[in-house]
Amino acid sequence: MKGIILAGGSGTRLHPLTQVVSKQLLPVYDKPMIYYPLSVLMMAGIREILIISTPQDLPNFIRLLGDGVQLGIRISYAEQPHPDGLAQAFIIGEEFIEDDDVCLILGDNIFYGAGLQSLLIDARNIVENDKKAVIFGYYVDDPQRYGVAEFDQSGKVLNIEEKPHTPKSNYAVVGLYFYPNSVINIAHQVIPSKRGELEITEVNQAYLVEDNLHMQLLGRGFAWLDTGTHESLSEATEFIKTIEKRTSLKVGCIEEIAFSKGYVKSQELIKSIENKKSPYYDYVKKIISRA
Ligand code: DAU
Repeated sequence: MKGIILAGGSGTRLHPLTQVVSKQLLPVYDKPMIYYPLSVLMMAGIREILIISTPQDLPNFIRLLGDGVQLGIRISYAEQPHPDGLAQAFIIGEEFIEDDDVCLILGDNIFYGAGLQSLLIDARNIVENDKKAVIFGYYVDDPQRYGVAEFDQSGKVLNIEEKPHTPKSNYAVVGLYFYPNSVINIAHQVIPSKRGELEITEVNQAYLVEDNLHMQLLGRGFAWLDTGTHESLSEATEFIKTIEKRTSLKVGCIEEIAFSKGYVKSQELIKSIENKKSPYYDYVKKIISRA
């Protein structure tokens, strides 16, 4: 399975913070925002990753993450000149995906919770074995801001609406999507919405109509953090800071995941960070020496 991180957009809601820096490179406590979605893909065992961003921001992502060899993964990059919608990721990424299945994660979505890794592996298995799409629902107080699922009495998904005025439930569809290879064809058929975007909700709706959509609810014990406003961005920082301090473990530490998953050997990792001095890298060095 391949992975795509969509990290473009204009970020106007966070101006002036995002006037010269991409939103997905803003700090969330001790690391750039994109580390969190990248760590999710790595935890899912995905090692070929495409980062899509704007032509002006892409060079900064390349400076930060390079080709991924230091993490034992392969990172490539592609431009999205205009924010024409999330589903465009599969059109831009068509050659990268080739015949594979694909997981799309939004570069500004942060996930935390015990059992996250097995949830990701389960989703992967459903896509790879049953060729169904897997999406995740999360209870929110403000569903109008998201893609929202409607359920029948038995909990089966009936419909998904993008930013509905009158939401049929409080379950938002989060920015993490697992699809079989057919998503490329489906994305090509999506017509731009009223706001002029190729909506991911249309893709999900297409799988729903075929009865090939599996929606997994993220229950108690999971946190899905939004970073769309100044308030929620600052809350995300506070959340990560508190969790990291109390557990003495880092969230979204890509070097730790690369090491624990066996993507890199300790000597390689030590070499790649030997000149780096910060509490973040002190942590990585501690993890390696403990092992
Ligand atoms: O966060 C989950 C929600 O993400 C879903 O519930 C919605 O169904 C989905 O449409 C999306 O809604 P948003 O309103 O949050 O999408 P937004 O336009 O803010 O874009 C999400 C991120 O993706 C943001 O960091 C910018 C980036 N982006 C967005 C578009 C439209 C791109 O990189 N390219 C794009 O073309």
